[in-house]
Amino acid sequence: MRNFEQIPRQLMGHGPTPLEHAPRLSEHLGCQLYIKRDDCTGLAGGGNKTRKLEYLVADALAQGADTLVTIGGLQSNHARQTAAAAAKFGLRCELILEDVAGTPKQDFYHNGNVLLDELLGANIHRLEIDQDLQAYSEALIVKILGEGQKPYLIPVGGSSVIGSMGYVRCALEIVDQIKAQDLQIDQIVIGSGSAGTQAGLIAGLIAASSDIPVLGISVSKTAPHQAQVVNDLLVPVMEYLLLEPQLAADKIHTNGDYFGDSYGVPTAGMIEAVKACASLEGLLLDPVYTGKAMAGLFDLRAKDVIKQGSKQLFVHTGGSPGLYAYREIF
Ligand SMILES: Cc1ncc(COP(=O)(O)O)c(C=O)c1O
Repeated sequence: MRNFEQIPRQLMGHGPTPLEHAPRLSEHLGCQLYIKRDDCTGLAGGGNKTRKLEYLVADALAQGADTLVTIGGLQSNHARQTAAAAAKFGLRCELILEDVAGTPKQDFYHNGNVLLDELLGANIHRLEIDQDLQAYSEALIVKILGEGQKPYLIPVGGSSVIGSMGYVRCALEIVDQIKAQDLQIDQIVIGSGSAGTQAGLIAGLIAASSDIPVLGISVSKTAPHQAQVVNDLLVPVMEYLLLEPQLAADKIHTNGDYFGDSYGVPTAGMIEAVKACASLEGLLLDPVYTGKAMAGLFDLRAKDVIKQGSKQLFVHTGGSPGLYAYREIF
């Protein structure tokens, strides 16, 4: 394997994030639930993207970039953390944000992540639902270059090979923590979108010779479609780490039953899971990713797919600023 510690990284998160037991949720569910608190990565509200940005910003700076450009939904947590990382490193930030069909609208356009993006000094380009994000970002890159600036384009969710290194690091951290706490974890559960989190975790667990399975609960795609997205990233991630991609061939586990109508659209299960985590553990999930992933964990436990007494590690990937954009559904 490549010498992982030599991959350039700009420290910006608080870590290692805690890995803690959730006793009251465990009792509620009838399985032992542990939470990896990546909502506590520290950068402007925290979340999983901070880990990816440590590697992405290092790459951008190495290339002499002075402007971070990224794309996402209007309430993107990734966009918020990118804006914060740009502010911290004195870079300009251009966010191309698309409206999301079917979301509650009272606060969606002005509160939550988008309010924070503005506070963090990002320049926001608001796109309509059917506008072509890719074409817009290409035109914006040309414009920025024409102004003599040096843009660095971060793909949706920060899910490039470089960004995924953040979750290789997280997997190594988890393996150390469960060893130190003398825990046997049966499964890791995460919300999976652009898949850098899932691909990085799988690769990192392989690197640490751990065979804990990772279940990615999809926030927008069917299980086979999400598995394809994970695989398309995992293969180059393994190659970059100088690990044999074949080692990951049977390690992609996805579930597509809990995103409801589509990305960002509330479900009854998500609302129930967000309320249960808040009232039983003082734990704030989010409406788009962790709420739906936790709703999946709840339901899989109710159906006994997740066995009674088993030890489940939920990676809390952050996103609670999104709650403020969804006020009316709570
Ligand atoms: C809070 C939260 N959880 C999970 C994810 C999904 O991570 P990934 O895009 O790496 O699959 C995101 C992505 O934006 C997120 O904001």
